[in-house]
Amino acid sequence: MAKPKRRYVCQACGAIASRWQGQCADCGEWNTLTEEAPQTVFSSKHDLSSGGRPIIFTPLDAPGELPVRRASGLAEFDRALGGGLVPGSAILMGGDPGIGKSTLLLQVAAHIAMAGARPPGSGSAVYVSGEEAAGQVRLRAERLGVSKAPIQMASSTSVRDILTTLGAMEPPALLVIDSIQTMHSDQIEGAPGTVSQVRGCAFELIRYAKENGVTLILVGHVTKDGSIAGPRVLEHMVDVVMAFEGERSHQYRILRSLKNRFGPVDEIGVFAMEGAGLAEVGNPSMLFLSGREEPMAGSAVFPAMEGTRPVLIEIQALIVRLQSGATPRRAVVGWDNGRMAMLLAVLEARCGLNFSSAEVYLNVAGGYRLSDPAADLAVAAALVSALGDKPLSSSAVWFGEVSLAGEIRPVAHSSIRQRESAKLGFAKAFGPAQGREGAGKGGEPGEKGLSFTGLSMLPNL
Ligand code: TYD
Ligand code: MG
Repeated sequence: MAKPKRRYVCQACGAIASRWQGQCADCGEWNTLTEEAPQTVFSSKHDLSSGGRPIIFTPLDAPGELPVRRASGLAEFDRALGGGLVPGSAILMGGDPGIGKSTLLLQVAAHIAMAGARPPGSGSAVYVSGEEAAGQVRLRAERLGVSKAPIQMASSTSVRDILTTLGAMEPPALLVIDSIQTMHSDQIEGAPGTVSQVRGCAFELIRYAKENGVTLILVGHVTKDGSIAGPRVLEHMVDVVMAFEGERSHQYRILRSLKNRFGPVDEIGVFAMEGAGLAEVGNPSMLFLSGREEPMAGSAVFPAMEGTRPVLIEIQALIVRLQSGATPRRAVVGWDNGRMAMLLAVLEARCGLNFSSAEVYLNVAGGYRLSDPAADLAVAAALVSALGDKPLSSSAVWFGEVSLAGEIRPVAHSSIRQRESAKLGFAKAFGPAQGREGAGKGGEPGEKGLSFTGLSMLPNL
């Protein structure tokens, strides 16, 4: 009999190689290939074209099959999920260590468990921790003030034990597995956390969830570069992938959905980590703008969009003139480095400003990370204000994309941005000129629209 071929599976991306290599040829990670049991060799004995049971086809408009979402009790969590927990779905939640995943999920489980009494049986929650002992989870629950919630809590790493136990009881509304990398199946070779273990355990848990209408939340570890550890396939297997982000040194946390089979992916939920767990932040603009005092040179407020939600954020620039001929430093926190270099070049070329012998520092307040391209104008305004040491109007916000020619390009959701700014007391909004109105100074937010044509006006404001 032919010897089964060895196979080596990359633990980072799941790629398969026929011989061991130090570096994965697919993803370029080092020392990630490990040997795994070979797969069954298929032969004519495995003919799959007959002997099965017929499957049933249904029309797309079959009645009564729409998922009914269950509110988690945390509005920000529901918002990020696109409107609540869908029974029978699997959610993968990734995030840096210590960011608050266990805290958030314990709070959600407590809410579901406490709501359980209302429509009877609709809300029971099981929380299985593979990382902490039951006593540690209990301590945390006490700190969160939810120790009275009827959560079924256990500490276990064996998927067989977990599924056997669950199989003998009424299926819960919510099952939290913290984390999938600590789970182990005795059916599969390899240590917990390896690709085959993670995949196999997730598969069994997801099957249980789908068959029993349970919402499953899997916590996933995150690697250095921010992707969820283990195979990419894990992301394909689940219905929703969420990322819990934030700077550990800052208070706020953002829950973002990266994939969602039941809703939009660009919604966020905002939380603040406090002494007694995560508090919802219904109005994030207040959080990010708090601490602003009298107008300072180099500070500009930018109405960013997070999904369908506007968030006002302060952008700060600092410019230090160098006496000597040393190479000036440029540092950016919370924004794209290359994008700032481009903006500096545009400001030099189109407005005749000179940043060449100055150190330039840019910071997005609150540890926030901006990805909205409309931030260009606000950054330019902050830079110009810092260069001239002249504060910008404290009642103005700035948004728009800057082209290489120095024009301000229109961006999406202009009116939502203006409305949010007006709501928070900003009387003026500078942004892309809208069509025929042409050049002018800042327009009033609201119906009149914006008017701001070129960067060259900036130094005169
Ligand atoms: P945790 O939920 O354990 O993070 P993860 O599961 O993502 O690794 O959160 C741990 C951090 O949260 C810890 O550093 C302390 C902080 N924390 C608070 O500030 N307040 C609280 O009420 C709790 C429970 C944790
Ligand atoms: Mg944890």
